[in-house]
Amino acid sequence: MHEVAVAMNVNGQRRQAMVEPRLTLADFIRHRCGLTGTHLGCEHGVCGACTVLVDGAAVRACLMFAVQADGREVTTVEALAGPDGELSVVQQAFRDAHGLQCGFCTPGFVVSLTAFLRDHPDPADDELRGALSGNLCRCTGYQGILNAARLAADAGRTA
Ligand code: FES
Ligand code: FES
Repeated sequence: MHEVAVAMNVNGQRRQAMVEPRLTLADFIRHRCGLTGTHLGCEHGVCGACTVLVDGAAVRACLMFAVQADGREVTTVEALAGPDGELSVVQQAFRDAHGLQCGFCTPGFVVSLTAFLRDHPDPADDELRGALSGNLCRCTGYQGILNAARLAADAGRTA
């Protein structure tokens, strides 16, 4: 099988490997980097569970090939907490507002919301709803997640 060299920074760490061109960024992150916080639900761009940041932009890692991330900065949910394990504002809000049940969807929601609040620090409720509308959850009925998003937005504003 023809393989190509790929190199990127993942959570600030240089990662390089020979990969098949068809390897997705999600599989690269999970299987080559061992970062299994990036979840795979649908594997075709619908559920948002695989959301990561590429050069700061939220992207679906199942829809991107690893070779497309060559030379880029990738950030996964593992990097959101502080070095001492202190939860980020968004993670803490999900915890405090019970924004999860099984937790499978949670990394995608947390990464998506983190990017959104960075760019929209004072969102209205409908903007939060719109920002999270691309992430699916099979457990919560979404109200806890929206409460967490509101809490995170308010906490970020006063931080
Ligand atoms: S696994 Fe990527 S969007 Fe569902
Ligand atoms: S908490 Fe189970 S899928 Fe969202």
